[in-house]
Amino acid sequence: MTSAGGSTYTNPLRDPQDRRLPRIAGPCGLVLFGVTGDLSRKKVMPAIYDLANRGLLPPGFSLVGYARRDWADEDFAQIVHDSVKQYARTEFREEVWKQLAEGFRFVPGDFADDAAFDQLKRTLTELDDVRGTAGNHAFYLSIPPKFFADVIGQLKEHGMAEQSDTSWRRVVVEKPFGHDLASAQELNRVVSEVFPAESVFRIDHYLGKETVQNILALRFANNMFEPIWNSNYVDHVQITMAEDIGIGGRAGYYDGIGAARDVIQNHLLQLMALIAMEEPSAFDATSLRMEKQKILSAVTLPASLDHSTARGQYDEGWSGGELVKGYTDEDDIAATSTTETYAAIKLGIGTRRWAEVPFYLRVGKRLGRRVTEVAVVFKRAPHLPFSVNATEDLGQNALVIRIQPDEGITTRFGAKVPGTAMEIRDVNMDFAYGGTFTESSPEAYERLILDVLLGDPPLFPQQREVELSWNILDPIMKHWAKGGRPEKYPSGTWGPASADKMLARDGRKWRRP
Ligand code: BG6
Repeated sequence: MTSAGGSTYTNPLRDPQDRRLPRIAGPCGLVLFGVTGDLSRKKVMPAIYDLANRGLLPPGFSLVGYARRDWADEDFAQIVHDSVKQYARTEFREEVWKQLAEGFRFVPGDFADDAAFDQLKRTLTELDDVRGTAGNHAFYLSIPPKFFADVIGQLKEHGMAEQSDTSWRRVVVEKPFGHDLASAQELNRVVSEVFPAESVFRIDHYLGKETVQNILALRFANNMFEPIWNSNYVDHVQITMAEDIGIGGRAGYYDGIGAARDVIQNHLLQLMALIAMEEPSAFDATSLRMEKQKILSAVTLPASLDHSTARGQYDEGWSGGELVKGYTDEDDIAATSTTETYAAIKLGIGTRRWAEVPFYLRVGKRLGRRVTEVAVVFKRAPHLPFSVNATEDLGQNALVIRIQPDEGITTRFGAKVPGTAMEIRDVNMDFAYGGTFTESSPEAYERLILDVLLGDPPLFPQQREVELSWNILDPIMKHWAKGGRPEKYPSGTWGPASADKMLARDGRKWRRP
């Protein structure tokens, strides 16, 4: 089957519905704006090479870099080469690199430069002729959102946004999708004036992670979890995204944005939606989005934002055996900055399935270690036919989805300690990707870029999800804005004391992953 512009090559002898077959992009190219940025160098370029190395790109694939640099094609190729050598997941193979690099072009210019956009257009036409990209081009905006309007306007002006019956044009945007509901709507207005909704691919890279996609497999391909996946059995859910790194060189992006807008608005609320949603009627974009949207629109805020949220800012401390700076001592951060580097919030979901089950979301930089996990914590057994002493060390059963770095799933339950007495203690049963599957998981960006080139939308949030997520976060951000400075926590610890108090009020504790 061939979608608009022949994007997907399918062997006619195979069942086109068979999702196990390798999906290979049809003739196409990608234009990358923001080639000098961290994201391009660390994620996008290596992912393109990894896709080529896995044989998932068409032979004539082309990559056009656009930036305000006085570079020739060879200089751009060198930048991609360095990035691939440093960050690619798969081994470097000269023959793959050579073939890929033949499709590299560079167009120098800024976003107001009409002549440069003319040249970009000529370059795409040339690639269609010599590389057979067939008019199919994706424009990847790896640039701050304040430039979206300029670039998208230029693409339109210079006739590069129009698709035809036989070719496609797509635009890829990276978060942040605005900094609140109003700005997200404005951003969407700018993009949707030029590109129809089905041609806009919003990247939330968490959705490209294997372990995140596995949440749906775990829940809906098995029979043993779903019956207990509700308020009758679940006590609460903890979603943690902890990083040990600080803000590094990203002061310009991060300051004024902070932890909640940076990752709760997108990654963590998406994780929550996948954990909480009902079974979709089909495994397609429309059905998945509908179920996620139902959850996001049913989210309720706690009665007291003072008691049920916490925010912090990392201070000097020990991280990985090294004394590291506090946030306000980082380069380009003002001593008076009130940006939070830690955020925790308690949310509810107003549905029968989740009534009275709190979802605790927390995220922080410079925490004890890097770990992202979802812990579904179960209620205690209603009756224990043992002496009190026997179950002193018995905690609550839990199912922990380890998103990263040690990918897998752990179930925690009570077991008898071997010996003559009845003593019950928590034990863990583990599924680890490393020990089970021989192939290492692709990087999220490999999957997502391939999906863009294939025009396959299920893993990309739509504007409605973005807006619903801002609806949840906006009142919290407003509340925090009135509240002065976030509480300091020493680097290398697990966040501010107020976050522990927040759970203690509910008689609970954060997990120490
Ligand atoms: C990004 C955030 O979306 O995710 C960063 O902007 C964060 O602040 C990063 O460091 C973490 O991604 P990952 O895949 O390493 O968990």
